[in-house]
Amino acid sequence: MAATIINGKELAQELRLGMKDEVKQLKEQGVTPQLTVVLIGDNPASKSYVNGKRKASDEVGILSNIIELPTSITEEKLLQLISELNNDQDVHGILVQLPLPEHIKEQHIIEAIDPSKDVDGFHPINIGRMMTGQDTLLPCTPYGIITMLQSKNIQIAGKHAVVIGRSNIVGKPVGQLLLNENATVTYCHSKTPDLKSYTRNADILIVAMGIPNVINEDYLKDDAIVIDVGINRVNGSLTGDVDFESAKNKAAYITPVPKGVGPMTIAMLLKNTIKAAKGLSD
Ligand code: GUN
Repeated sequence: MAATIINGKELAQELRLGMKDEVKQLKEQGVTPQLTVVLIGDNPASKSYVNGKRKASDEVGILSNIIELPTSITEEKLLQLISELNNDQDVHGILVQLPLPEHIKEQHIIEAIDPSKDVDGFHPINIGRMMTGQDTLLPCTPYGIITMLQSKNIQIAGKHAVVIGRSNIVGKPVGQLLLNENATVTYCHSKTPDLKSYTRNADILIVAMGIPNVINEDYLKDDAIVIDVGINRVNGSLTGDVDFESAKNKAAYITPVPKGVGPMTIAMLLKNTIKAAKGLSD
């Protein structure tokens, strides 16, 4: 039987509708959630992501402010800006779009953001809170993945989840969130020999490799739940890390690319911004 498709675009749209109401209520209480995005340089992919964030914010009534800076900006100047944003009562969420120019240390910037405004969920304090199972601002893509699974009432507890990828943004935190939900988690990565021997035992497979179409039905257990985090541009069109046409024959559930995890990442960013505006993250 062909897999059920988990449509992230539709789910994100549904979530935004609910958030619109939440924002309206906050505004009635005199609080307008505000997200400030810092965009450095002119990387076309970053510009496009930031544009998506702006559009989604507008839709739910979150005020978005995009600060564009030249690649030549110094780390010191950027840290100074972050300090000003940290002290600005009207700013609830701060997001510095990655990647940064080489002369700026990513970790210095991430750690400079006030954890209560860290809507990316990248600050070590928020990561630590996530690891200890506390309520906090969660990294958007992993949070979006868990929300997608829950939207289909997919049971996570007791399942074997295999994560391919170990980035700080996706792989590591999604494994942790699955563990928090009582899954048994295996991490695989570029140095893992015989990848199939792991993926074929996965009830839930999270693929974040950054290589187009590598995971086909041969890698899957029957009725696996397959979440494709890949966003690769091949001949001008977007494609995931999973060979969708092949994998959908064997999986029980699968996320497409586009219209899968991508829109959910942005929806969770909005959710985090509202949470930060409510002051629930301290
Ligand atoms: N660049 C690519 N994805 C992300 C993300 O989720 N957050 C930030 N800040 N930069 C990114």
